Amino acid sequence: MCGIVGYFGKEPVEDILIKKLKLLEYRGYDSAGIAVKNSTSLKVTKAVGEISNLKAKVKPLNSAYLGIGHTRWATHGKPITTNAHPHLSTDKCWAVVHNGIIENYEILREDLIDKGHHFLSHTDTEVIAKLLEQTFANLPGDDSCDKYLTALVNTCNALDGSFALGVINKKADCVLFAKNNSPLYVAVNNGEFMMASDPTCFIGFSQSYFALCDGDFGMMTKSCLTFCDKNLNKIEKTPVELNLVYSGDTNDFNHFMLKEIYDSRRVIDNIIELYSKKETLSGFTKETFKRITNIKIIGCGSSYNAAVIGAKMMQERLGIDCSAYVASEFRYSPPTFGKNTMAIFVSQSGETADVLAALNLAKARGALTVSVVNVEHSALSKSTDLTMPLKAGMEIAVASTKAYVGAVVVLYVLALKFDSLIRKTGFDLQQLSTLKDLLQIEKEPEYQPIARLLSKADKLMMLGRGYDYYTALEACIKIVGTSYTSATPYFAGELKHGPLALVSKGTYVIAFATDNDILTKTLANAEETAARGAKLILCTPIELPKEQASRFVHIIKVNKIDGPLQTVLNIIPWQIIAYYMSLYKGNNPDRPRNLAKSVTVE
Ligand code: G6P
Repeated sequence: MCGIVGYFGKEPVEDILIKKLKLLEYRGYDSAGIAVKNSTSLKVTKAVGEISNLKAKVKPLNSAYLGIGHTRWATHGKPITTNAHPHLSTDKCWAVVHNGIIENYEILREDLIDKGHHFLSHTDTEVIAKLLEQTFANLPGDDSCDKYLTALVNTCNALDGSFALGVINKKADCVLFAKNNSPLYVAVNNGEFMMASDPTCFIGFSQSYFALCDGDFGMMTKSCLTFCDKNLNKIEKTPVELNLVYSGDTNDFNHFMLKEIYDSRRVIDNIIELYSKKETLSGFTKETFKRITNIKIIGCGSSYNAAVIGAKMMQERLGIDCSAYVASEFRYSPPTFGKNTMAIFVSQSGETADVLAALNLAKARGALTVSVVNVEHSALSKSTDLTMPLKAGMEIAVASTKAYVGAVVVLYVLALKFDSLIRKTGFDLQQLSTLKDLLQIEKEPEYQPIARLLSKADKLMMLGRGYDYYTALEACIKIVGTSYTSATPYFAGELKHGPLALVSKGTYVIAFATDNDILTKTLANAEETAARGAKLILCTPIELPKEQASRFVHIIKVNKIDGPLQTVLNIIPWQIIAYYMSLYKGNNPDRPRNLAKSVTVE
């Protein structure tokens, strides 16, 4: 949610900022802007929409050598140019880019207005620029870079909320930065300095980077990089090796979303490779798990949808109390839990604000914390007692596909591991190889006509029981998020208690019926909707008698695998259908309207 970047160095600054913002575009893409500076001027350029619009507008400032940039996902104020970052102080000397939310901005704004400042935007960020001007004016001493840094620290001490900040001043030869509850990283390369919301930006720039902690501040100047705390005490930070592989090409695919669906097979391979090594799970010992009597699995969006599958499979396998929670609910309406709890946090990005807040709560209660996370340098991955990487590689499309598959598979691995520890069962990942071979991604052309049909529907209803309901949850979120078609999952058995009233002639009802034991029940529920005019689509591995099959407009025949991994086979067609529905509706599947890949605000 919003990406920020900063640069101090020798290269044409506009080029660098635009290039890096392009890499951060997944974080928000409603507007973007940069502020650059040379020895006499500060120049701001902003544009609504994607980075390409900004790029087209930028006219380089002569001899500019430092600057900051921002790609926005609107929180306060519409996505218009005025609300795009950077924001300026009243004297137009300070420029600020911000990722996060300033919770006390209204009080600060009123106070600043009383003091004669004029606000142009509806953002919370603009108060920071005005406050910097005000704070700096009240500081004694010469106008050194240290004084500018002091102004930033004092300003941030007055802010409530979350922020990663990049700040420059027309008269100062430095780029200042600050972090509190939003990600920020800094790297050095032979006299050049860069900061960014994601270390991916440092690929090709440096072999290592510094991960800022909450409460860290600092500045880049011509000769050095300095870090300090909120009392202005200098701090030393240890660089981390940059161990990232850039996979930001769509290869031969038209979009990342489709490419990433095809990546699922490789993700499963990576998981098999990593978790087959004894040392990978060496931290997961009998001793560690001895005290655990219950498991809570927490996530948001698709990660939550993987969590519910994980909770059911662990409950079934381990016979202990396991449940899944949406992180935003968990943090404000927590269940009863404590030291005997294993709290598992599932997240692709590892920086979702609600997930991190839920983690803090779990730590405060003394739970054993485990992260199931794709971005290994993320705050989540670094902050749990144990971590299990998804090994999905960079996922760029906003709608999660391969990371969702990875999360279900890694939760399965964890269930196996836990089981092997408490019941001394074997730890055998053989079923994952079978799963990989059974994925039916190449059936893509078969799913396209279904997508075309459904792209014309106003609403879709999806039915299922047990794991099938959880697949319906994920299928709906994919369809809603990419094609903007209303799609709602229902427990098949709950239809008669309300949802059936929504069915009218031509309503598309999709039934997931992949478990032989409850097949007839779910099919009967689907029939009940057909009796009221619904058109039926079925997703099943089971061969139906001809007569029964003829009642469905389409049957998606998935392969069969025993147990919870069936959910992975079931979701693939729906990821593809969601992709094509989005295309047929004229949307960009990789960048759905109003959404962002990384949700760093509540
Ligand atoms: C956003 C993304 C989703 C993702 C969710 C949770 O809404 O668009 O694809 O599932 O955040 O993100 P996380 O990174 O915690 O898995």
